[in-house]
Amino acid sequence: MNDLIKKLVEAYGPSGFEDQMRALIRPEIEKYADEITVDAMGNLIARKKGSGGGLKVMIAAHMDEIGLMISHITEDGFCRFTNIGGIYPHTLLGSRVQFEDGRIGIIYSDRITDRGKIHGLDKHYIDVGASSKADCPVQVGDAVGFVREFVAQGKFLSAKSMDDRIGCVVAIEAMKRLKKTPHDVYFVFSVQEEVGTRGAEAAANGIDPDVGIALDVTLAGDTPEPTPIAVSLGKGTAIKVKDSGMIAHTGLVRTMKKRAEAANIPYQLEVLTGGTTDARPIQIANGGAAAGCISIPCRYVHSQSETVHADDVENSIKLLVEILSNPIDL
Ligand code: CO
Ligand code: ZN
Repeated sequence: MNDLIKKLVEAYGPSGFEDQMRALIRPEIEKYADEITVDAMGNLIARKKGSGGGLKVMIAAHMDEIGLMISHITEDGFCRFTNIGGIYPHTLLGSRVQFEDGRIGIIYSDRITDRGKIHGLDKHYIDVGASSKADCPVQVGDAVGFVREFVAQGKFLSAKSMDDRIGCVVAIEAMKRLKKTPHDVYFVFSVQEEVGTRGAEAAANGIDPDVGIALDVTLAGDTPEPTPIAVSLGKGTAIKVKDSGMIAHTGLVRTMKKRAEAANIPYQLEVLTGGTTDARPIQIANGGAAAGCISIPCRYVHSQSETVHADDVENSIKLLVEILSNPIDL
């Protein structure tokens, strides 16, 4: 599975620029889907038909990653930029970025006079080796993603875009392992989550599911002075109860816990005080759906070394397969 993780986490795909991700994921799932469609926004939707008597279930994992977009180019050829999604300026200095065509750029900032202070995004730039605006090989509106090699040290897996390529891996693996389901299941590899869960909203309006489950990372509260959260790396998949955008459907949470317990899958209960996932738009689309989220605990979210634990990934896959293999009693 590490080969698949490496392939997905190193790929280019900031929000709105997911073409390469879609091209990578499609061949991985073709064999396991009854029908594959791409909607107008670019969501990749793979349907697996049920044997009957089940519900219409939408699974969502987002293909996009946080990134940057060139906003203007200086006379001497340096690219100023704005953010795509939640970027911390703390993570930028000296970083390498990739453009859609594979070109590499280096991020640095204006002169640092006070090392205790961090410049805002507007004081940073990307250097692509140009010497003037005229010979700059990139354009206003070009989007970049970060460059960072995937690394697996034992069960600690680190990469620039575990959020949410690891959710995509969980979805792909679950599709492979799901032998029989009573449910009509739509696996949605969504676009534009990082700029406000926009792709999943369009997909949920189109599919109109009874049940929606997002697969995404959540924070881990087991590092020095972390954002407090009762979730640790390696202690199990996380069943979301609440985040700042959604209260998970209580019947679905109950079903998730029951399935985990019946199959001896370790789990943690997640209450996240900041941030939300694709489960939010699914919950409130059309007439509403029973929505929840299987979360993969992750350290250093929205940095270039987002870190997850292989056991939590495996347990997330197992839980999703158990839920989809059985009747969902809400
Ligand atoms: Co994110
Ligand atoms: Zn995410």
